[in-house]
Amino acid sequence: MLKDCFTLRITRDLSPNNMELIIAVIILLILAVLLFVIYRSNNRLDITKYAVADKNIPKPFDGFLIAQISDFHNTRSKAVRDKIISALLESKPDIIVVTGDFIDYYRTDTEISLEFLRRVIPVAPVYYVPGNHEARIEKYPQFCASAERLGAKMLDDRLVSIVRGDSKIDIVGVRDPYFYKECEPVPERRIDILSEKLKSLLQAGESYIVLLSHRPELAELYADSGVDLALCGHAHGGQFRLPFVGGVFSPSQGLLPKYTCGLYETNGKRMIVSRGIGNSSFPFRINNSPEFVFIRLENIENADSSEH
Ligand SMILES: [Fe+2]
Repeated sequence: MLKDCFTLRITRDLSPNNMELIIAVIILLILAVLLFVIYRSNNRLDITKYAVADKNIPKPFDGFLIAQISDFHNTRSKAVRDKIISALLESKPDIIVVTGDFIDYYRTDTEISLEFLRRVIPVAPVYYVPGNHEARIEKYPQFCASAERLGAKMLDDRLVSIVRGDSKIDIVGVRDPYFYKECEPVPERRIDILSEKLKSLLQAGESYIVLLSHRPELAELYADSGVDLALCGHAHGGQFRLPFVGGVFSPSQGLLPKYTCGLYETNGKRMIVSRGIGNSSFPFRINNSPEFVFIRLENIENADSSEH
């Protein structure tokens, strides 16, 4: 009799309807935990510090600190914006470079970017090259004028020299090839235009050359042009990062892209790729928090580069 009651209760408790409810609750719990983890990691800020040592870096620039903000995409995350400002105030870089996509084409909010720039400008001189998103935003010229009024130095295919004593380094900025789509609809030809502009900018250069360019997939072109150190973004770290695999996807490089983050060497020249700050058409990252990069230049004979 007792056994019959027990069997009846179990049967009632685990009826098909109850089982479905339990499975639904478990799935909802897993989804809630996943969403929480994704939210947390997308509002965290990883700070990566590199030391780039080269005998061609002039002695007065030993210790010169560059802060790199890439792919900001007018991020809605106030937490991330505040963390960048805190890191800047703490580190006191010599210059700040913006390597494209400071505003987002799909969810454009220029006011977020300009307000952030207002907070960044007092820290150090800001050098800015536009990315493919700026190239597609109609009101970029107005945004550009506002950024210049705030004090940003726009490096639209321009070179500036930073002088210390009798020495200098050159900061070169090239616009994203998307800017040339009006004058040249063939994608390969746009890269040729970028290459020609870069070579003409570097013609007179004998200094240590730091290039600001949005796209990392042109690493060989940069190295062959004589760039000593290229600072890039664009790949967003591959959006999702898998253990032992790395980034999953990048615009322009497709699946399992080669250049997503870190320091690369091509023909003895270096390139640093930031995972960037924000998102665009795909609104979140997995295992790939926003990244803020610092690069310290060092004048050391025959030394290697390293990540700290
Ligand atoms: Fe981007």
